[in-house]
Amino acid sequence: MSDVKDSNILAIDLGSTFIRVLIGKNQFSNKSISHFVSLPSYGIKNGTIYDFEQVRTILSAGLKSIYQKEGSNFKEKCILNLSGKVYVSKNIKIDQKFSKETQIRSKTINDLLLKIPEEKGYTSVHVCKKSFFIDNSFETLNPSGMFCNAFQANFHVIYMLSTYYRTLKELFNSLHLDLVDILPSPIASANAILKENDYLIPKILVVDIGALTTDFVFFSGGVPEFTSSVLLGSENITRDISFGLKLNRDDAEKLKLDFSEPTDEDDFKNFLRNIIYSRAEDIVLYIYDKLKKVSDNMVPLRVYLTGQGSKLLAFKKLFEEVFECPVEIRRPFSLASTEKRDYEHATVLGLINYALNNTILTNKYDDQNFIQRFFETFFKRG
Ligand SMILES: Nc1ncnc2c1ncn2[C@@H]1O[C@H](COP(=O)(O)OP(=O)(O)OP(=O)(O)O)[C@@H](O)[C@H]1O
Ligand SMILES: [Mg+2]
Repeated sequence: MSDVKDSNILAIDLGSTFIRVLIGKNQFSNKSISHFVSLPSYGIKNGTIYDFEQVRTILSAGLKSIYQKEGSNFKEKCILNLSGKVYVSKNIKIDQKFSKETQIRSKTINDLLLKIPEEKGYTSVHVCKKSFFIDNSFETLNPSGMFCNAFQANFHVIYMLSTYYRTLKELFNSLHLDLVDILPSPIASANAILKENDYLIPKILVVDIGALTTDFVFFSGGVPEFTSSVLLGSENITRDISFGLKLNRDDAEKLKLDFSEPTDEDDFKNFLRNIIYSRAEDIVLYIYDKLKKVSDNMVPLRVYLTGQGSKLLAFKKLFEEVFECPVEIRRPFSLASTEKRDYEHATVLGLINYALNNTILTNKYDDQNFIQRFFETFFKRG
């Protein structure tokens, strides 16, 4: 048994193809990653658990194998991704007027967090700091230490279906895991693929293309503005090929992975191209329409793609065409010299990056209310 309870954290990405688990450690400010495992994904579809017992059995077996090598602490802390239709994002403004000039401290901000309104049937599970207005006259990202009479905070809040939240709590409790934070997949992935300079571009879009979901987050001024999910991914392309060419799923998948743009009048390749491009276009246009519906200002100046599905070049081309801006396919950057950093690991690496760079490891969280967990949190992006 190791004696590092407060410095260990598990990150779990409940993906459609694999459940990816890794342990991050932060001992004496030395951040490292150990035990990176990919478990088979059964009982998860479109980012949501639909077979509780199956997922519990897989996770339980996976954790057992990790603990045998690693040693375990009772009730490890754990951070999880969120995808699919079980969450919504909202931008919330909270105003505070003071009776006299007041200096902003972290408690002032924490008190505002408690004023985040409830949504019927939903529980707020994650809050991103957007910006703060001081005395209705100027904006800052870090108001700590400033004096003011009036203060406005803008938060990007992730609300999750309350019943599904209870399901997750139950699942993780039964595995002796303490679920301390939940991040939407695209916000997590952005943490693994974006560098500080990328956030300086005023409007960017990060898209994680998976098997059965495509998750996206639009950043404005370096902070999340809109986060959502499409219940379609690269596996839907495989299914279309399988249906269109009357092939079994594995043969269709192989055709997709081996696909390259036709250079001549190759009818078969052109037919295959049509199938691939029409489904990929559905996904890209869905994102475009969804952003447009929210606001005409949601036009990215750059798009970053990740997730294993982004390896299909059709996506890069279509994003360029539809959004008329440069598009980059990004692998997660190197974190604590981990070897496993393919596109598919963006979400789990982003989760651990977030956990190790925020104070969730040392906080004494109140289990009653997720929001209270942000009391001492030093917000970083997402
Ligand atoms: N070389 C490749 N070229 C194109 N697509 C690929 C390649 N390798 C894998 N894929 C596709 O990527 C998809 C899996 O992506 P990923 O591993 O990121 O999904 P996931 O995280 O498990 O799923 P989700 O995010 O939907 O829950 C599969 O549909 C697979 O066909
Ligand atoms: Mg994924």
